[in-house]
Formats: sequence, C-alpha cells, structure tokens
Amino acid sequence: MSQLDLLNIPHRPRRLRRTAAIRNLVQERTLTVNDLVYPLFVMPGTNGIEEVASMPGSFRYTIDNAVKECQELWDLGIQCIDLFGIPEQKTEDGSESYNDKGIIQEAIRAIKAKVPDLCIMTDVALDPFTPFGHDGLVKDGIILNDETVEVLCKMAISHANAGADFVSPSDMMDGRIGAIRESLDDAGFSDVGILSYAAKYASSFYGPFRDALHSAPQFGDKSTYQMNAGNTDEAMKEIELDIMEGADIVMVKPGLAYLDIVYRAKERFDVPVAIYHVSGEYAMVKAAAAKGWIDEDRVMMESLLCMKRAGGDMIFTYYAKEAAKRLR
Ligand code: PBG
Repeated sequence: MSQLDLLNIPHRPRRLRRTAAIRNLVQERTLTVNDLVYPLFVMPGTNGIEEVASMPGSFRYTIDNAVKECQELWDLGIQCIDLFGIPEQKTEDGSESYNDKGIIQEAIRAIKAKVPDLCIMTDVALDPFTPFGHDGLVKDGIILNDETVEVLCKMAISHANAGADFVSPSDMMDGRIGAIRESLDDAGFSDVGILSYAAKYASSFYGPFRDALHSAPQFGDKSTYQMNAGNTDEAMKEIELDIMEGADIVMVKPGLAYLDIVYRAKERFDVPVAIYHVSGEYAMVKAAAAKGWIDEDRVMMESLLCMKRAGGDMIFTYYAKEAAKRLR
C-alpha cells in the first residue's frame, strides 16, 4: 500500500468539528427558551379545547383553559405569548375588537391574574372581527386605511387597559404605529410597548392560521396592504417608518423564506427584530413528519436556530413548547 501523501494545508476547518465538545465551544449562535414567543388562540365559552385541523398539536382554548396553558408555558420557561381571539360576533364595523368585555380583553385579565409575570402581547388587526376577514374596514371592496387606524387605536387602548404588556399591530395599514403610540400615550399607557409587524408579506403560508381563527378573507387577497414577496427595499422602508413612528420591536413575517429580510434589517437598524415562524411553515413540517419523511424534532430545532443565525432576536412559533422541552 502506497504511503498517502498528506495535503500540505495549514487550515483544516474540520478540526473544529471533530467532537461534540469542540463543536459546542465554537458555535456562534444559539437558541434559548428566552427567544420563544408562543401564539395562543382563545375562543368563547368554558372548558373547551379544539385542535386546529391544519395545525396538529395546536389548539384553540376557552379562556379558562388558556390560563392553564399559560401556567404550563411559564413552567417550561416560556415567558411571552401573543394572543389571538375569536370574537363572540363579527360585525362590519369591527367594534367587538375594542369591547372591554371582549375575548382578548377578558383573556388578558384572566391570564394576568394567574400568571402575572408572563409577558402578554396582543394581535391588533380586524380580520377575525369583521365578516370580511380583512385586516381593515371594508367599503365597496376597498380596505380603508385611516378609518381602520382609528379602530385599531381603540383596540390597542382596550388591550392596554386590560393589562397587555405589548400590542402587536399586524394589519399593515399606513401610519398605524404612530397613531397607536400617540393614543396609548394620551390614554396614560406610555409603558405599553409596540411590536410592529413591520415587514409582513402577503403570504400563502398563513392558510392554517386563518383556519384556526376562522378569518380567511371572503373576497380577494391581502396584497393591497401586505407586501409583495419580490421586494426587499420596500421592507427596509416599512421597518424604518415603523421605527420612526415609535415601534419598540419590529417583525419580519413569514420566517424561513424571508431570512434575507431579517439579515438586512439587523444590518441596518438597531432595534430588536422578531421573526414569525408562521402556521404554514409549522403545518408543512407536521405533515412531512406524519408521513415519516423528516425528523420533526431536528427540523424544528434547525429551523429555529437558522432564524437566530439570520439575526432574529425572538421567534414567534407554534413549536415553542416542543422547543422549550428540547432545550431543557
Ligand atoms: C392577522 C394575522 C395573520 C397572522 C398573524 N396575524 C394572518 C393574516 O395576515 O392573514 C398569520 C400567522 C400565521 O400564519 O401563523 N392579522
């Protein structure tokens, strides 16, 4: 056997991958339980839990059960939720969204009473609250901007009044962050933060979420207010505007397919950037795992880590509980 001629190379990157201990030592980015935000769906009634058909392992809870779920999240180390509600009734003016006794407002109070240190963020948009399933008010097939912002301000104040720590406008109307900031301040809620869904794309990855909330648009799509998947400069503009208007945290949504946007945002702005690992991304992993085609746990952890690597400071994910368990 001839003697193998060793390559004469000073750099052998594999030296840093040789053992698990070495790999851990040189790992650049990590995922921790502190990075996870759990989206929670609440529905009217008591003692109810319904699994979302297109999101196995994800549920709608009545408020009493949502409180129990929050205790469980807290015990797992998850310190933040984002609340989404299915209202008692949908009306064309979306007025149930700012009802002081509405689903979100009551859920906030019940959760704060039992798990007071859990950070509660609340979705601010009208899609579950009107029969149209659009994020804003609708007139003659048009999604109204300024009229919608007025309702969103009332909604934000009612959430703050119930005890929300952050409001999360996900509607993509122009000027809503500034208007909500001013309304909150005027109402005495200058400590309540705003996480803005700043670069939110008109995405087909939201399908299962709309099943969860019974909020699919009844006509057209959301492309007159959510962003075009082909654009990135526009995302920087949206994020910049929201920061100037007073957003404390900005979000890029969806997640994996939009990590270039996250990366650009982190290069450019000095604010925390959130990523939403959305319902369709979750559903795809679940479906492939159910067929035995991928290793669910590993795909989940890899996806979340990649969001951290791209620069995400926090991740909204339906996998928060499973990930928290894995991270223990
Ligand atoms: C509604 C809202 C949506 C999501 C979060 N808030 C759906 C939409 O814009 O149609 C999507 C979340 C997900 O898909 O997991 N304003």
